[in-house]
Amino acid sequence: MLIRPSSIRFVELTTSSLALTLGVLKRFGFACEARPYKGRTVLRHEGITLFVTSPKPEKFDHVRLETYVSRIGLLCQEGKSAGEVLSENQDLASPCGVLFHVIDQKQWHEWESQREFPECPRQGPFLSHIDHVALNLFPTQLELMGRWLEASFGMTALPPHEIKGHSTSFLCSPYEGPSFSIVLNTSTCATSQITAFLEASQGASVQHIAFATRDIFRAIEKVRQKGVPFIEIPSLYYDALEREIPLHPNQVSVLKHAGVLYDQDLNTPDHQLLQTFTRDLFGPIFFELIERRARRGFGEGNIEALFKAVEAQTKR
Ligand SMILES: [Fe+2]
Repeated sequence: MLIRPSSIRFVELTTSSLALTLGVLKRFGFACEARPYKGRTVLRHEGITLFVTSPKPEKFDHVRLETYVSRIGLLCQEGKSAGEVLSENQDLASPCGVLFHVIDQKQWHEWESQREFPECPRQGPFLSHIDHVALNLFPTQLELMGRWLEASFGMTALPPHEIKGHSTSFLCSPYEGPSFSIVLNTSTCATSQITAFLEASQGASVQHIAFATRDIFRAIEKVRQKGVPFIEIPSLYYDALEREIPLHPNQVSVLKHAGVLYDQDLNTPDHQLLQTFTRDLFGPIFFELIERRARRGFGEGNIEALFKAVEAQTKR
């Protein structure tokens, strides 16, 4: 039966450095902690729930990372696929080994109402939901995994995009659901960050989680204040941006100051996408902040421009 999930409702991380991982997540804004559930720490921020668990010693896992995303929880509106929250019987193993877990709205509401989440901290919500997760896969897994996302969850394949720097490249194949996406990344050269990730993980796994925000500047400020490091964006990126998109110099300096990448639909200038990335937070895994102003896509042009700017700066 085809299940049509409406959103990514939770993500579970498994870690052998529990205190360290919880510290990073809390600094990122997941400071609202509920009673443990099935031995897992439960953290929440607005509409996003994270489960954090320690690895089971007896369980063989295909991923060799100290911290990794062990489950992606999808929420569906209809009650046909009801099952227990985080019961292993409800897990769907994808062809690349990444586990998905489907729950329905009613069941999730029941679970949430029993959890006694405390009031979220005074800082107020600045992350709204999970926009997408990106999985790094071996090239041979790409087609099978894409077909599985289409057949299992009715997701739609968007055109793949090869992101090319001068010396490195990878292929990004997005699959779109109603209000979330799964992005499949695979390497097209031996020196790409995807190759390095897969060498470290020894298996397909989540590379980054993108959190949607309604105000990226505020979100960055909040997270940076807590000491979470973001990537540095070379000024060459903003030089190129000014040449390509007709922006006011003040707008460029605001973006530059905050370290935000910017993309805009040239035919519909009010369709914009703003994004930035943390540095690697857990081994090779990082987070993204994304603010969509009616703009779809994943900032593929941004990433390519960033790649080129980093390469040009390194050569200097
Ligand atoms: Fe992303």
